[in-house]
Amino acid sequence: MGSLHVLDHPLLQHKLTILRDKNTGVKEFREIVGEISALMCYEATRNLPTMEVEVETPISMAKVKVLAGKKMAIVPILRAGLGMVDAMIQLVPSAKVGHIGLFRDPETHEPVQYYCKMPPDISERQVFVVDPMLATGGSASAAIKILKEEYGCKHITLMDILAAPEGVEVIRKDHPDVDIYVTAVDEKLNDHAYIVPGLGDAGDRIFGTK
Ligand code: PRP
Ligand code: URA
Repeated sequence: MGSLHVLDHPLLQHKLTILRDKNTGVKEFREIVGEISALMCYEATRNLPTMEVEVETPISMAKVKVLAGKKMAIVPILRAGLGMVDAMIQLVPSAKVGHIGLFRDPETHEPVQYYCKMPPDISERQVFVVDPMLATGGSASAAIKILKEEYGCKHITLMDILAAPEGVEVIRKDHPDVDIYVTAVDEKLNDHAYIVPGLGDAGDRIFGTK
C-alpha cells in the first residue's frame, strides 16, 4: 500500500515559496525546480534496496553498502517533468530515463498522449514518475497506467512538487500501491483546473513560453 508523503522540510518550503512568487523569473524558477527535485529525490529514494560489498579503504577492508539490483528509472511527464530530471541524475547517475509526453486538453482537462519511449529493462527498475504539478491527477494517473499495463512496471513512485487534494485522491484511488511525494497539498483547483494558490503553469515558467 502506498502512502502520501508531504515533505515539509524548511529548505523545501522556502524554495517552494520562491516558485510560487509570480515575480520569480525563468532562470531562478528552473534552478529552484532542480534544487527541490534533488532534495525530494534524496527523501523518495530512502527505501531503495542496498546490498553488502567489500571495499578496501586506505586503512582496512570494510563491509559496506551499495545500491542493489537494476536500481532506478526516472520518467518525466513532458514537458514540465523535464525540469526535474537533471538534478536527479546528478544524484543517481546509474538511473535510466524514460519519457512520456502528455498534455492536458484545454477544454476537457483530460490528458492526451503524444510520445512514449522507455528503457528496455524498465519493468525491473524502481520507477520515479516526475512532474512538478499534480492537479486533477489525470496526467499522472495515465502515465502510471501506461507504465503498468504496457511496460509491466511493478514498483512506481510519484514525485510532484505541488499537488491539489483532487489529484492526490485520484492517484490514491487509481493506483493505491504508489507512494506519492509532494512538498505541499494546496487548497483546491480553480475552474480551469489550476492549483490554488499553486504556482501557475509549471511548463511555461520552466521554459519561458508565456
Ligand atoms: C501540466 C503539468 C502536469 C499536468 C497536471 O502539464 O506539468 O503534467 O499539467 O495536470 P493534471 O494533474 O490535471 O493532469 P501540461 O498539460 O500543462 O503540459 P506541459 O507540461 O507541456 O506544459
Ligand atoms: N498544470 C500546471 O502547470 N499548473 C497547475 O496549476 C495545474 C496544471
